[in-house]
Amino acid sequence: KGALRLGVAGLGTVGAGVATLLRANADLIAARAGRPIEIVAVAARSRGRDRGVDLSGVRWVDDARALAADPDVDVVVELIGAAEGVARDLVKAALEAGKPVVTANKALVAVHGADLARLSERAGVPLMFEAAVAGGIPVIKAVREGLAGDRLDWIGGILNGTCNYIMTTMRESGRDFADVLSEAQALGYAEADPSTDVDGIDAAHKLAILAALAFGRPVDFGSVVVEGIRGIGALDLQFAARLGYRLKLLGVARRHADGIETRVSPCLVPEGSQLASVEGVFNAVLVEGAFVGRLMLEGRGAGAGPTASAVVADLVDVARGTAVPVWGASDTALSASRSLPRESF
Ligand code: HSE
Repeated sequence: KGALRLGVAGLGTVGAGVATLLRANADLIAARAGRPIEIVAVAARSRGRDRGVDLSGVRWVDDARALAADPDVDVVVELIGAAEGVARDLVKAALEAGKPVVTANKALVAVHGADLARLSERAGVPLMFEAAVAGGIPVIKAVREGLAGDRLDWIGGILNGTCNYIMTTMRESGRDFADVLSEAQALGYAEADPSTDVDGIDAAHKLAILAALAFGRPVDFGSVVVEGIRGIGALDLQFAARLGYRLKLLGVARRHADGIETRVSPCLVPEGSQLASVEGVFNAVLVEGAFVGRLMLEGRGAGAGPTASAVVADLVDVARGTAVPVWGASDTALSASRSLPRESF
């Protein structure tokens, strides 16, 4: 087989990380994928900017949407972000054109995942989004494949690296919120608009995706109860510590008899607990199932390297032909549960 040829849309922190990783591990990726994986075309805002990676030989495309119909592109890699606009147009057009899509776009999958899943099924091509949830933690694979035999009752955890980094650093160093947020941006953890992180929206996107996978049905994103960390000051962190707790922004999704509850909010977790030990940019996903019991996956939830690792893992699945359907089964209506409205709690 020839190389799997990629059209990459977006060359920010994650895009540059993917290009770097594909070069650095080219041989082992080719061996695992059964063929080389190469970037052939790129659509990105500023061509001239030095991204610290060699992009010679790559064709630059002005409009990312053109990648969907590009005859030299086998797979579209969408790393632009946002639920609407170019990213959505590109992903839809690529699936309609019968091209597999790999994306890190949690907003898009959280809000339009059900529609995109239908397109993916209709075209018989995969839509992969391991990088959309918890950075480098292979949680989509774990939930969709590793836990495919169990009925899950509960899923959640620490889903935003920026918020966890801010609260950890403020507590440890006494520095103020704005100062630590700027550092998280410089480290490539925060979203282009960091209010998405600090207002809890990013964690809510990830929670909606996890809940949909865990409970086998799309979650209405508008039903997620969301509270961020803007209101938290150094004093709150100190008082929590004095009482024996750490403050964590948690996302929790629970199955109830009459539907699914999803909420994101700052919570007190006891010092010495598994979750309290997850600090800095690290994320943790906790799952509870009838047979598997409780388990926790922990790893870096943001940044170029971890997120690129997840994107490339999806690409290897696509290259091998082992990518699974969006919800892990061909039937998207696995359960009769509905998203409980905000007013229910
Ligand atoms: N801004 C996100 C975070 C990036 O801080 O967790 C990873 O999705």
